[in-house]
Amino acid sequence: MQNFDLVIRGGTVVTAADSFECDVAIRDGRIAALGNGLAGDRIIDAKGLLVMPGGVDSHCHIEQLEADGSIHEETFTTAGISAFAGGTTTVIPFAPQFKGQPIREKLAEYRRRAALSPIDYSFHQIITDPDAEGLAEELPEIVASGIRSLKVFLTYDPLHLDDRQYLKVLTAAKKLGAIITIHCENYEAIRWRSEALLKAGLPGPASHALSRPKVVEREATYRAIALSELVDQPIHIFHVSCGEVAEEITRAKRRGVKITAETCPQYMVLGAGDMDRPGFEGAKFMCSPSPRAAGDASDAEGLWAAITAGTLDIISSDHCGYSIEGNRGKKINGADADFTRIPNGVPGLAARMAITFSEGVSAGRIDASDFVRLTATNPAKRFGLYPRKGLIAPGADADIVLWDPGRQVTLTNQLMQHAIDYTPYEGLKVTGWPVMTIARGKLVMEDGKVSATAGAGEFLPASLSPAMKPRGVVPDDFDAAAFS
Ligand code: URP
Ligand code: ZN
Ligand code: ZN
Repeated sequence: MQNFDLVIRGGTVVTAADSFECDVAIRDGRIAALGNGLAGDRIIDAKGLLVMPGGVDSHCHIEQLEADGSIHEETFTTAGISAFAGGTTTVIPFAPQFKGQPIREKLAEYRRRAALSPIDYSFHQIITDPDAEGLAEELPEIVASGIRSLKVFLTYDPLHLDDRQYLKVLTAAKKLGAIITIHCENYEAIRWRSEALLKAGLPGPASHALSRPKVVEREATYRAIALSELVDQPIHIFHVSCGEVAEEITRAKRRGVKITAETCPQYMVLGAGDMDRPGFEGAKFMCSPSPRAAGDASDAEGLWAAITAGTLDIISSDHCGYSIEGNRGKKINGADADFTRIPNGVPGLAARMAITFSEGVSAGRIDASDFVRLTATNPAKRFGLYPRKGLIAPGADADIVLWDPGRQVTLTNQLMQHAIDYTPYEGLKVTGWPVMTIARGKLVMEDGKVSATAGAGEFLPASLSPAMKPRGVVPDDFDAAAFS
């Protein structure tokens, strides 16, 4: 009989398609066999546990370099620890581009930082200035190096692109074979409402939600989709906050547009009302798009309807941690900064899988295979990492999470094991919890105890997946991109 390095015995293996009881054997960091009665040098008893692919978090901000010279508090090391604690084994963070500057130097710096990552990673390349000198030469190099996701923002100073610039990035992606990921909110609309809110004497964190109502996100989402149809370039919409926005994606999918979309746990369990807490407390919940209605008329139900209908394909964390204390985080502009000057983002690397499982599977909205598809298989497929990541099958990397579906846990910041000094999910009760995480065959978390080795993570070059390829359909049969 073959001898394996490790056998996970007697658990329920869950894939994106089905669930079945069997052993999983691992050799040299890969899944070597599925079967019964497998023998190995080490046996892990998984009876009563779900055996699922390690999570692939395809939207998280880690050690991100910002234009003002600041760097996000969450380093690759701390992010890796937090991800393993939560059952995630692959992350896709963001390499920067600063306006007016070529990318090369900053990308090299970002790669140096990522070289210390304990967790496997790929990158999205942010494009804030498609007109920057040298970019036309750099982009083919960047894509050829395995970064096949270009991220654009339709809002935020100093990141947002206007329509012409967005068309330019869509065109470049079409020519190079990359996917475009988009933050959809209308820049001018938010600016206009924010100025009015400040004039009205409403500078507190609660105004964040008022500055960017759903229609602001819906308009930008529709525009992002329509312009992608004009070019015939596949896109992925980040952090959809509500059903009203998801409707635009449903309509686009019905028209045959090559589009995928994600939502995040903050839109399932947080609400705009959280930002109305006294003093600076509301800043803990500020992220963009804003959390919407909670409670009886919760917008989360619209999201779950879109998830079960197949409109939303991925659940990412959009982990973007800023501590509440200290001078690097939410108070970087002072404790009395108005809502327009408080950094946006909430941490969620370790919480993503547990909240999704609890609100989804334990609450009876989806089944365990849906959970695997949303948190691991689809993100791996979408970003060119499949079949190495996102599935349990011979040949795939042995990235596995053992999950106790019945364990009840109350979330605390300590459980998140991140570098940020709070979690917006403090006190949230979840049912279902990761008890062991295995990354490329190595045990990296057992009962919350993480062992993460700096530099053990590998860069994952993305392959050109079928979903990234244009449809071959352009309006009026004139392919303007071919002449741009
Ligand atoms: O508020 C958020 N989401 N901050 C992170 C950056 C982004 O927009 O994704
Ligand atoms: Zn965003
Ligand atoms: Zn983000």
